[in-house]
Amino acid sequence: MKRKYIVSILISMACICLSSAASRQQILRISTDRLDLIMEVADDNRLYQIYFGEHLTDTTDMAWIGRPVCKSDNGTLEKRQREVYSCSGNEDYFEPALGIVHADGNRSTYLYFQGIDKRPVEGGEETIIRLADDRYPVKVDLHYVAYSKENIIKTWSVISHNEKEAVRLTSFNSTMLYLDAPKYYLTEFHSDWAEEMREKTLELGFGKKVVDTKLGSRSNMFCQPLFEVGINQPVHEQQGTVLMGTIAWTGNWRYTLEVDNNNLLCVLPGINPAASDYLLAANTEFVTPEFIFTLSLSGRSQASRDFHDWARRYQIKDGMGRRVTLLNNWENTYFDFDEAKLAECMREAKGLGVDLFLLDDGWFGNDENARNSDKAGLGDWGVNRSKLPNGIPGLVKAAEQAGVQFGIWIEPEMINPKSELFKKHPDWVITLPNRETYYYRNQLVLDLANPKVQDYVFKVVEDIMTENPEVAFFKWDCNSPITNIYSPYEKAQQGNLYIDHARGVMNVMKRVAEKYPDIPMMLCSGGGGRCDYEAMKHFTEFWCSDNTDPVERIFIQWGFSQFFPAKAMCAHVTSWNKDSSIKFRTDVASMCKLGFDIGLKEMSDKELEYCRKAISNWRRLNPAIMDGDLYRLVSPYETNHMAVNYVSKDRSSAVMFAYDIHPRFSETVHRVCLQGLEAKARYKITEINLMPGSLSELQLDGKVVSGEYLMKVGLDVFTGKQMSSRVIELTKQ
Ligand code: DGJ
Repeated sequence: MKRKYIVSILISMACICLSSAASRQQILRISTDRLDLIMEVADDNRLYQIYFGEHLTDTTDMAWIGRPVCKSDNGTLEKRQREVYSCSGNEDYFEPALGIVHADGNRSTYLYFQGIDKRPVEGGEETIIRLADDRYPVKVDLHYVAYSKENIIKTWSVISHNEKEAVRLTSFNSTMLYLDAPKYYLTEFHSDWAEEMREKTLELGFGKKVVDTKLGSRSNMFCQPLFEVGINQPVHEQQGTVLMGTIAWTGNWRYTLEVDNNNLLCVLPGINPAASDYLLAANTEFVTPEFIFTLSLSGRSQASRDFHDWARRYQIKDGMGRRVTLLNNWENTYFDFDEAKLAECMREAKGLGVDLFLLDDGWFGNDENARNSDKAGLGDWGVNRSKLPNGIPGLVKAAEQAGVQFGIWIEPEMINPKSELFKKHPDWVITLPNRETYYYRNQLVLDLANPKVQDYVFKVVEDIMTENPEVAFFKWDCNSPITNIYSPYEKAQQGNLYIDHARGVMNVMKRVAEKYPDIPMMLCSGGGGRCDYEAMKHFTEFWCSDNTDPVERIFIQWGFSQFFPAKAMCAHVTSWNKDSSIKFRTDVASMCKLGFDIGLKEMSDKELEYCRKAISNWRRLNPAIMDGDLYRLVSPYETNHMAVNYVSKDRSSAVMFAYDIHPRFSETVHRVCLQGLEAKARYKITEINLMPGSLSELQLDGKVVSGEYLMKVGLDVFTGKQMSSRVIELTKQ
């Protein structure tokens, strides 16, 4: 009897999913060439996700897709409905996209479909879906831009109201995205100073996994704002379904990945609500950050190339433009320099063959606030007269004489308490009035929620440019998280500070980029603590890490290459890991935007000659490395080696980088097959970046073979030598 009872319950719970398509009002479709995100306006006039996956070609099939409804012996059992922008206080018991406390204290919001607009935008189509509550004057517009060729979707939401008083927002995700599969594997990238992009994979089970940051500025110091989810299997380079997403926000962000009782995964990317219950005044808009995502059906390699193409074409500053090579003085001189020393560095830069000399930290602040260490000077952007009596114009002139361009470092969002600015404007600083101040790198963060402070920061760049229109490059650093979270400007609205501050920072970056559209700018944050795609609208490139040990860089660059094109990733040859050769260091840096940050006197004539040649090789190969397609071939996480190849868009030139990191004694190494070439074309194989005087030991060096051979048979590129590298150029004949 008891057994029969259990069996009947099981039968009644065994749900058959049927389509509820009959009761819908409308289908909304966001498509790229390979993807479809399909929603329905149901009979209750609410919006639900009904499909996210490979592009559907037969539109008549749309009629059959529906929300899961379960029929059982006991009648109909409703399954969770995948509301596209679910709000707090409704009948969905999982993490909502949006939490609102209305002016009357009510915490429930229900959003109903109002309409849809579509318009063409560069590279694709924008869809705006308008939703509104029926009891409160609250509106949410969902924006989706679908980039057809790149298969990238960018989405954000705009929340507004005209209640009698301000409403309190308690969460404000950019979107909600549902995936339905038996298994999910999250790959996330955690970090710290000099430890950026450490890849880790874990299986997601019932409940929530949160990846977030609460640092305010320098927001990605502990984890990078990007993730990958392997569907049914851990993420793989070449096969399997992979969701890849990243949020464009230079502040606190949070990814919530929630698996519910039916094993449905909901991904919620957004601004982190921690210490940020946001008071939204009536008739104002709260615009969430853009969340940019793609779903690859053939592994993450394809998704990375899609991200690279999209970023170069539509998101990063001067994405299709040329990048300058440079010599930076930071690791060579630190704070210890004067005009003569810098002029010498400029001549060295010319001798090396780079385009530009970049002056780093330490050129400003005077008297007791002189920037001779990290203890003073931030905020006082007047040139240090004892180090540089002729000011920046003197340096610009010296650069001209040396025959290189001149670039300069700034950290304009920050202040040292030892500065004139601090004496004049203590009210411009984020700091607690009633507690002991905590200093990170002896500095504090300026209160960019305050428009006057935004103007001041903008003027840092404007003043340099007005005095020196020849300045040809900026490195914008940000070395401290926000500490002592209190804003004199926000007064009673302290919950708005993290968000208004981030918006203030982005506002200044935008103003600078708009005023100086042709100036390349490097985003830096104590290494790679800032590299989101909002800031990258205003920057041509970012500094991946202060860790320039080439072995570490192989891993760091492997990580960033998941989402960013090589063109956006700065890599410099330095003195980190002197056990590795200059060749190995330069070859690793050549996979990204190549630069140098090293005293050239450290190098022998042979090494210098090698570097000069490597720079000109890199320039020649720009169509492949900077603007082409990347194929990650051998993972440093899985082997003692690493290999990638880049192919120019017209497939006429390609380059392979192969590294032996720490091969074991007598280790068997395997051939590596290239990817992305034209199978029928013939390519000449040339090993380049050889030390002067040494000959290639590569078996097929100088031979001409077919693309098919290179992709099916491959090349013997690995050796048993520690920290050795090979760069192989393939030229179509
Ligand atoms: C941190 C950066 O990552 C370095 O490259 C350098 O610019 C220092 N800041 C200067 O203080």
